Amino acid sequence: MNSSPIGIFDSGIGGLTVARAVYERLPHESTVYFGDTARVPYGPKSPETVRRYSLEILEWLLGQGVKAVVIACNTSTAHALETLQAASPVPVIGVIEPGARAAAAASVGGPIGVIGTAGTIASNAYARAIQRRRPDARVEQVPCPLFVPLVEEGWFEHPAAELIAREYLEPLRRTGVDTLVLGCTHYPLLKPLLQRVMGGDVRLIDSGEETAAVVAQVLGRTALDASPDSAATHRFAVSDDEARFRKVGIRFIGSRMGPAEVVPLD
Ligand code: DGL
Repeated sequence: MNSSPIGIFDSGIGGLTVARAVYERLPHESTVYFGDTARVPYGPKSPETVRRYSLEILEWLLGQGVKAVVIACNTSTAHALETLQAASPVPVIGVIEPGARAAAAASVGGPIGVIGTAGTIASNAYARAIQRRRPDARVEQVPCPLFVPLVEEGWFEHPAAELIAREYLEPLRRTGVDTLVLGCTHYPLLKPLLQRVMGGDVRLIDSGEETAAVVAQVLGRTALDASPDSAATHRFAVSDDEARFRKVGIRFIGSRMGPAEVVPLD
């Protein structure tokens, strides 16, 4: 039994969708969440820059005494997972393997679609992870960068969001994907809209939920889990603009949102 917190980080606010999945799956686990709000977005940045930022955050989280680290950010997982795993004395879990595994299991043979930031799609990390499990799988990938600001604006069902979703997803609809991986922290908030645009038969894979299940397994396997009697506490830290983080964060995690410490990393 280990009552130390789990560290969770993202380029900004979106990783709270993963944090929410962790809170729900592991109600006795405390967490420390870091959102790099000063340097968001990571999606268009180079792999080297994203790796450097991610290492700085890892170091800060380790300084907080975390027992495991969840990279909630898909772009950071795509570019920095192996680097962080090599540098960390505690387990580091990314969002791509769990999402890819769920997609490979859910697909009934049709092509598998993946949507994410420009960086995640260019890295090909989801396609590689899916094809490791299903070498025959056809993977169709589409970057959807405009979804991030739409979600930040709270335009989950806005006509502009629907128009953009129809435009982005048209090639995937034409290809007839049977499974669609939501390969970005923000996209689960657009789930009802994306389901409508893709049609009810397409399975949407939320990497956050899948990742929370993997975190539970890793903690169990390494005997790092908290006692069922523990009362979980959730801390938040950001690199800038605490007020906006809190305001938008409420949309992601409701009343679990609390004040965030401001930690400028560079
Ligand atoms: N957190 C990022 C991701 O999941 C999306 C936002 C960004 O571009 O930083 O890829």
